Amino acid sequence: MIQIRTIAVDFTEGQSIYPMLRFELANLSVGLLINNVGMDVPLGPFAELESDEEIEKIINCNIMSMARLTNILLPGMRKKLRGIIINVGSIWGTGSTPWATIYGATKVMPFKNWLWFTLITIT
Ligand SMILES: NC(=O)c1ccc[n+]([C@@H]2O[C@H](COP(=O)([O-])OP(=O)(O)OC[C@H]3O[C@@H](n4cnc5c(N)ncnc54)[C@H](OP(=O)(O)O)[C@@H]3O)[C@@H](O)[C@H]2O)c1
Repeated sequence: MIQIRTIAVDFTEGQSIYPMLRFELANLSVGLLINNVGMDVPLGPFAELESDEEIEKIINCNIMSMARLTNILLPGMRKKLRGIIINVGSIWGTGSTPWATIYGATKVMPFKNWLWFTLITIT
């Protein structure tokens, strides 16, 4: 039986949401994590467009969400020796992106192999 539960959060908020998420997810058996949430900022030269607030929001939304949710759910998957984590990247994460510097940087994260090695440890 598939159970559906909805937890609404704004990932741009950063650290403050994770204690609640950790608590809400603590007793659930999660087999699939899809780190899909992502935002971008307007295209343009870094120095002209991206304010401190925009930089913090996009890092919180695109990187922090992936790292923290994986950190919360991966131990349960390791314990069960079963689980799938899908990180949604972008073509913008594969090369130089001078007009989308921060977005491009956040989209490199899904291509890093830190999960690959973790999953090798599981199997
Ligand atoms: N669109 C593209 O052309 C494209 C290309 C390459 C890669 N991607 C990547 O694919 C993923 C999805 O992109 P998309 O265009 O489908 O994005 P989207 O439509 O803007 O958002 C996808 C989902 O994320 C949720 N979301 C957005 N910001 C959030 C926040 N701050 N807190 C919580 N939830 C939030 C949205 O919720 P709501 O429905 O409530 O807004 C929606 O359910 C992203 O990681 C993106 O970087 C997109």
